[in-house]
Amino acid sequence: MAFRVVARVSEIPIGRGLCVQVDGIDVGLFRAEGRIYAMENRCPHQGIPLSEGSLEGAVITCRAHGWDFDVRTGHRPTDPDGFPIPCFPVEVDGDDVRIDLAAPLNVRRRA
Ligand code: FES
Repeated sequence: MAFRVVARVSEIPIGRGLCVQVDGIDVGLFRAEGRIYAMENRCPHQGIPLSEGSLEGAVITCRAHGWDFDVRTGHRPTDPDGFPIPCFPVEVDGDDVRIDLAAPLNVRRRA
C-alpha cells in the first residue's frame, strides 16, 4: 500500500484532533509542533476516540479518564517503554494530508 490522501490540513483543529476512517480503522490526525501526526484513534483504556481529547504540545489527553499519549510516538509520556498506540507516517502536500497505514512507525510486524 502507499500513501493516500485522508484529509486536508485546514480540517484539523488546533488543540484536539480529527478522526478519519481509513480501511475500517479510525485514525486520529493531530497538529503538534508545526507538523501533522497520525495515530490510531482508539484509547486503549476503554476505546474512547482520542481525537476528542485535549491536545497540549504533542500530548493528547483522553476526555474520559485522562490517560495521555504522545502523538509523535504513541507512548504514554510516563511510560516510554510501554506498548505504543500505532502511529503512521504522514506526508503533507499543500493542503492534502496523506498517510500510509501499511507502514506503522512504532509497531513491529510479525514475520
Ligand atoms: S477511555 Fe481513555 S482514559 Fe479511559
